[in-house]
Amino acid sequence: MDRITITRPDDWHIHLRDGEHLVTTVPHVARQFARAIVMPNLKPPVATVDDAIAYRDRILAARPAGSRFRPLLTLYLTDRTTAEEIERAAACPDVVAVKLYPAGATTNSDRGVADLRGLAPVLEVMAQTDLLLLVHGEVTDPEVDVFDREAVFLERELAPILERHPQLHVVLEHITTEQAVAFVRAGGPNLAATITAHHLLLNRNAMFQGGLSPHAYCLPVLKRERHRQALLGAACSGEPKFFLGTDSAPHRRTDKVSDCGCAGIYTAHAAMEFYAEAFDSMGALEYLEGFASQFGPDFYGLPRNRETISLVRRPSPVPASYPLAGSQLVPMRGGETTQWQLVAPG
Ligand code: NCD
Ligand code: ZN
Repeated sequence: MDRITITRPDDWHIHLRDGEHLVTTVPHVARQFARAIVMPNLKPPVATVDDAIAYRDRILAARPAGSRFRPLLTLYLTDRTTAEEIERAAACPDVVAVKLYPAGATTNSDRGVADLRGLAPVLEVMAQTDLLLLVHGEVTDPEVDVFDREAVFLERELAPILERHPQLHVVLEHITTEQAVAFVRAGGPNLAATITAHHLLLNRNAMFQGGLSPHAYCLPVLKRERHRQALLGAACSGEPKFFLGTDSAPHRRTDKVSDCGCAGIYTAHAAMEFYAEAFDSMGALEYLEGFASQFGPDFYGLPRNRETISLVRRPSPVPASYPLAGSQLVPMRGGETTQWQLVAPG
């Protein structure tokens, strides 16, 4: 198969940032996707419906002429989030989910949740109003090895949340381990997971290949090959619990190449090309449409898109960098080529 036409996909987890960053990030996401779940980890975080609406308008203003790209907003859950704010969010069609960052787990998560039990009333309102809970699934306990933080989170934190709130729809985001794949499979119908393109294409060797590469550092950190194989198996299985979320996370080059380099891999410029490559490597291109364009909207209770895109097997060069807010952004595969090329509309 050298060409594939599918329903236009959506990205169920992306970081677009704010201000000048939007000039770079929004055209990239809008070229590929009809909709995207936009993460709220700005500084300060998107914590209220008013914040979300104002952010939505800044994103819409950065769309290329003629684009109908639609951002779907998320609220950043903090220890001070109120049930009233959640009710307001549920009444706003542009806010579809609430994001749980364990405090300190990743970029801009210092305002995240320290005591989840205290938020039980908030989660109850979410369950009743069909707002989804999106979970960054890593413990922050410094005693736990960084490569084990996701697996430990499943039993220690996620299982109790699911037990206390069986009606809540939960997405375990950017899963990276065979343990997470098994946990999601074993869970009830209200539990799903997103998988990034970079975790399908790279294992942890990428961080150390020929020297230390800050551009291959993200959170959750890349894992062993065994785990990448488990993710490929899940993504290409046709199981509706696994769907697309790029976690494309732009950082200025100067923030990545630094004494304390930021976590994040940028894939928004060629996300579907990367996913096509991953599915093709498994001989599973016929499963790409479900993963990219059907299972996400179904889980969120949103309509599937109507237009199509096509991907052709054709090498396509990736710029070494893009301009980003006065610095550069080094994209995944920068200076190299993708194996597939997106042509839109299909
Ligand atoms: C994300 C970011 O930069 O905001 N970084 C990352 O490595 N994925 C945060 C996140 O999603 O954990
Ligand atoms: Zn993310």
